[in-house]
Amino acid sequence: MSVSGLFISFEGIDGAGKSTHIAALADAFRAAGRTVVLTREPGGTPLAEKLRELVLNDAMDPLSEALLMFAARRDHLGLVIEPALARGDVVLCDRFTDATFAYQGGGRGFDLDVLGQLERWVQSRPDSTALRQPDLTVWFDLPPAVAAQRLASARVPDRFESQPQAFFERVAAGYAQRLAGDPARFARIASDQPREHVWRQVREAVEQRGWLRPAGASA
Ligand code: TMP
Repeated sequence: MSVSGLFISFEGIDGAGKSTHIAALADAFRAAGRTVVLTREPGGTPLAEKLRELVLNDAMDPLSEALLMFAARRDHLGLVIEPALARGDVVLCDRFTDATFAYQGGGRGFDLDVLGQLERWVQSRPDSTALRQPDLTVWFDLPPAVAAQRLASARVPDRFESQPQAFFERVAAGYAQRLAGDPARFARIASDQPREHVWRQVREAVEQRGWLRPAGASA
């Protein structure tokens, strides 16, 4: 019997604490017998990882930044995400297009219509009129002031991490706008809570959609 692929993305401002929960969810899916592809944006392929280095470290204007994000995404979709979904794997992707709308659109104030056009070009599919989008987007929603405290003790910041709190306020507003446009796709997780509590909410969001059995339930 063939299983359908599953595409889950994870979003939030820098410092929101996505990584441990993505790893925990990967373990939960593997324990349920699924093959998991753990990946990230920008990145996930040799070319996209090179673009990541550039976009995180080199000065550039907002259009170049947006184009590089989508160029990396195009490569990643074609080489990693689409083949994995066709095999029936679970793709857990640390950031996807909502990040472009939040960071380049909200944070940098770049034209949302242009981003929408790029999204349509890059995420169109030969076999469907619907764009490729995640089946679920987990948004770790953390107040920017709390994230700023967390980031203060972080390693050398990149071009995004070094932005002021006001930038992250705009990024968070950008995420809220994306959620408003497609609420069924999102699970908004209040992330200013103990890690265990955040994890329970992440797991429940997946269980509610029938993709994992409730923890402790018998097979
Ligand atoms: P990460 O540190 O969570 O891996 O994300 C890399 C940085 O890139 C993060 O600061 C957000 C930023 N980013 C964008 O600005 N636009 C995008 O489309 C993506 C995917 C990430």
